[in-house]
Amino acid sequence: MTDLVSLHSAEASIVIEHDGIRGPVWRHLGARVDPGALPALAETRGPATFALDDDILLPLVPPAGLGWFGPAPVALRSPAGEPVVYAPQSFEVTGDAERILIVSRDPVARLVHRLEIVLLEGGAFQFAASLGNEGAQPVEVGHLASAQFPLSAQSREIISWRGRHNAELAECREAMPQQRWERVTRRGISGHGGAPGLYVLGDGAGWDRGLAIAVQLAWSGDGSLAIEHGDEGYWTLSAAATLAPGEGFLHPGARLQAPPAILAISSAGRNGAMAQQHTAVRAMVDWPGGTMRPRPVHLNSWEACYFAHDAERILRLARAAAAVGAERFVLDDGWFAGRRHDRAGLGDWVADPATYPEGLAPLAEAVRAMGMEFGLWVEPEMVNPDSDLYRAHPDWALAAQGRPSPTARHQLVLDLRREEVRDHLFAQLDAILSAAPIAYLKWDHNRDHAPSGGAAQTRATYSLLERLRRAHPGLEIEGCAGGGGRSDAGLAPHVHRFWTSDTIDAVSRTAMQRGFVAFLPPEMMGSHVGASPSHATGRSQSMAFRAAIACMGHFGIELDPEALGSDERAELARWVAFYKHWRHLLHGGALHLGEGADGIVWQAQGTPSRKLLFAIRTGPPQDRRPQPLRLPFAAGQRGWGVTLLEQAEQARHGLPRAPLFERMARQPVTFTGSWLAEAGLPLPSQKAESVAIFLLEAQE
Ligand code: GLA
Repeated sequence: MTDLVSLHSAEASIVIEHDGIRGPVWRHLGARVDPGALPALAETRGPATFALDDDILLPLVPPAGLGWFGPAPVALRSPAGEPVVYAPQSFEVTGDAERILIVSRDPVARLVHRLEIVLLEGGAFQFAASLGNEGAQPVEVGHLASAQFPLSAQSREIISWRGRHNAELAECREAMPQQRWERVTRRGISGHGGAPGLYVLGDGAGWDRGLAIAVQLAWSGDGSLAIEHGDEGYWTLSAAATLAPGEGFLHPGARLQAPPAILAISSAGRNGAMAQQHTAVRAMVDWPGGTMRPRPVHLNSWEACYFAHDAERILRLARAAAAVGAERFVLDDGWFAGRRHDRAGLGDWVADPATYPEGLAPLAEAVRAMGMEFGLWVEPEMVNPDSDLYRAHPDWALAAQGRPSPTARHQLVLDLRREEVRDHLFAQLDAILSAAPIAYLKWDHNRDHAPSGGAAQTRATYSLLERLRRAHPGLEIEGCAGGGGRSDAGLAPHVHRFWTSDTIDAVSRTAMQRGFVAFLPPEMMGSHVGASPSHATGRSQSMAFRAAIACMGHFGIELDPEALGSDERAELARWVAFYKHWRHLLHGGALHLGEGADGIVWQAQGTPSRKLLFAIRTGPPQDRRPQPLRLPFAAGQRGWGVTLLEQAEQARHGLPRAPLFERMARQPVTFTGSWLAEAGLPLPSQKAESVAIFLLEAQE
């Protein structure tokens, strides 16, 4: 007898067949289907030449090494060096409308594999896999996939992101491989390519249509995503955290849990899959008080004064921040003992007695009296050799026995796998947070791991964050790693914001921010107004353009408002007010991305009936007149009133605006939903580095 178990979201289905003997096999993972009375998979497969006599179908947990020639979801080593494979022989498949649990056992290796697939709110599926040792001998797991599943022959393209410090999240588009495609990270952090995830687009898929599959590992350490073509004609996708030698060692009775993978399957293109990923990540975030408060405007001290802290200057900066409307003042690197440059001090988390003789409390209180929260930068996982901590405990840094540990930015990585190191860091951070009213930490991590601390180091970071959050439940945390080197769903339960990049140039940010939101929601994306010229790129941009680009995420300021002329400072304050007025639409809702003609990219965010639309032009137009912008999401309403809120650009000179936009700037102009979706919204002409911001309100 063949049984089917299925999970169905509004847009997708996962259908698994099992007969109690062969074990569960994949029947479908794609757009929503009604399987009906399906013929068994075995019945559909004719014999093939040069194949095993006993056909191996598409197993959920394939017997690698015993007739399955695709990638192995489980790879084993025996401590004695004998070959061991995991080839399950007995299976239990249970489930309901929201979850499927597959427990498979290999009586020879005496291991049990559990795979749970859960349908999440919003329509994504969460995969969680573990392997347990039920035998009397230890075994070492070299690889345990969090998820492994087939991709249909209709798959056409892989979208992934790569990056480096100061140049995060460059989108890469590649055809499905003839052999194997792999994205591997080996730096101890998820890296500047962003979340460990990828999209696979099916035939004809785009932003708003066609089958899009997005998968991300909820993991901040080393890992791999692979897509392998087999001669059966389909691809197998696997996602796994990397296990360092020894880490997968399973004593009798022990169990190894792989980090979860989140799979979004949408028949509404990239935007559909992105929406599912956002809902899944939003459900992981643990907000103080249970719900997200409006995201406060930051002023971060880093690019305003770098290491040049002096108490009076910092107070002036805070006053200038409050005057333009900031709501949270974040004191970045440079505040602690010995930290006048990046060569010393990490590890000694006490306020520099020369700059802050009475500690941070007076400054934090002063900032609060100005009506702002006080936030503080820390980099707890690191130590400078020139620090009291290192002098007292040189053995606390990650090291390979008998070999020197290379420094990066003059620092070493602390071995957080050691309990005493975690206890020490907890005590220090707890003391700082208890001594002053600190509402926020920017938790940085400014180098790759060499040598590696493996997956255990990543888990140890999670546990330190968890302990600190438990002790200080009102605290919010920002994840940072030299900009966006560790922005991923693994950290999402522990933090509330990610610093997207040390490059604040608004042209660079346009592409990066689109990469960020592929997996993480915009309210978690730190986006600041930086100085002009940009410290990272040297390019100059208007205040309006910089601010409009920063409005798309969690807005902040990273410059000294006192250094601006009074007109520009007033303009900054106006943009702060703009962000505050609209943040309820910018955060927590649906996001739609798209591309228009002649280099325009756009995004819209808000509720089903009210959205802000940003039409962005980074380079100069090629064509004489802008072409209408198709907005597929608009089809969801009969009509829309469209107001042009802002044309954010360098002061306009040259040709006047078309009359429609003068009218649209004063009052809403009505269009039907189908017109906007298919014929498109007329756009004003835009110069390079400009954003036209519209409000769209549904009309009955
Ligand atoms: C990293 C961060 C910056 C800043 C510096 C401080 O580079 O990304 O925002 O905090 O460290 O040293």
